[in-house]
Amino acid sequence: MAPRIRRIAITTGGGDAPGLNAVVRAVVLASKRRGWDVLGVRRGYEGLLDPEKLVQLDRESVRGITHLGGSILGATNKGNPLRWPVKLPSGEVTIVDRSAEVLTNFHRLGIDALIAIGGDGSMRIAHRLGELGLPVVGVPKTIDNDLPGTALTFGFDTAVSVATEAIDRLHSTAEAHERVFTVELMGRYAGWIALHAGIAATADIILIPEIPFDIDAVCRKIMEREALGRHFSIVVVAEGARPIGGEMVFQDSTVRGRESRLGGIGEQVARQIEERTGKEARNLVLGHLQRGGSPSAFDRVTAQRFGAAAVQVVADGGRGVMVALDPPEIKTVPLADVIDKLSLVPLDCDTIKTARDIGICLGDSWEERGVW
Ligand code: F6P
Repeated sequence: MAPRIRRIAITTGGGDAPGLNAVVRAVVLASKRRGWDVLGVRRGYEGLLDPEKLVQLDRESVRGITHLGGSILGATNKGNPLRWPVKLPSGEVTIVDRSAEVLTNFHRLGIDALIAIGGDGSMRIAHRLGELGLPVVGVPKTIDNDLPGTALTFGFDTAVSVATEAIDRLHSTAEAHERVFTVELMGRYAGWIALHAGIAATADIILIPEIPFDIDAVCRKIMEREALGRHFSIVVVAEGARPIGGEMVFQDSTVRGRESRLGGIGEQVARQIEERTGKEARNLVLGHLQRGGSPSAFDRVTAQRFGAAAVQVVADGGRGVMVALDPPEIKTVPLADVIDKLSLVPLDCDTIKTARDIGICLGDSWEERGVW
């Protein structure tokens, strides 16, 4: 029999993604229809350790937020209650597990279920809290689109649209100045944003983490275009792209938050292109513009479908699962099946084949091997 729900909490863990507010609104409205109380947890999981960071959410508090970027609950990729840094009097930092406090607060506040919106890190925390007895339902969020178990995460479509528009704009200036432009896009270890935006904006070369690149193949493509009278080229570089036999490039080795920061590969590729081809190469890092601003119509719809579905799952007594897009349906998948793995671009997928077939170089001499 489905449990009687009186109060739920909602948290938005990890970095923000366009569509977060749309999920929050859908959860609040769908919950209110069922007569539930909704607590918003501010600043990700951190709010579960500090009840002062909880806010009551009603219809009024979520009015007019569907189209807004960011998150009315704030966002942080720093608060992991399972690995909480504590500064000792000596100045040293030690890591403690504060999950017991989370559970105590949860029960003390009479919360019946938690809807946890987040990416891979947040789903890992949700799964562990679920194992410890906290009833939790996950909602997949990330511009990187790297969560397994779902066809898409919300935020991805907006990031691709923003990147596409930026690359469209680079075309005219690249052509006017006969320059090569490298454009470094987000996505961490997955090349989804780079691949989709690169194809949408007709890039000449797309470098993704899943296909280590050969800089000679990249330069050959640029010079082939040169020979054809195309004196500019657009090279989309995923932030996690790396050369064959090389490593991903990090801004520095410091881990701030849950992971260290990727960044710098676009500039490296630009410098190598300039050295090898003699053509002027400039680099653009699109950065957080891919995460900011209004969600696309697609992300708004997906986010609201996820939010409403998560509430229905809670009502039906579902626990330890994540809602997921399995077009045309929304289904659920066990949290245990989505953690500790990433959804990377499959090398044999139709999108990769399409890119190759329309002459986009993926940095791996595929064309020269005559494979297709
Ligand atoms: O996971 C989303 C994402 O935007 C990645 O694409 C990027 O590498 C990372 O977050 C950036 O994180 P931060 O906001 O901490 O700089």
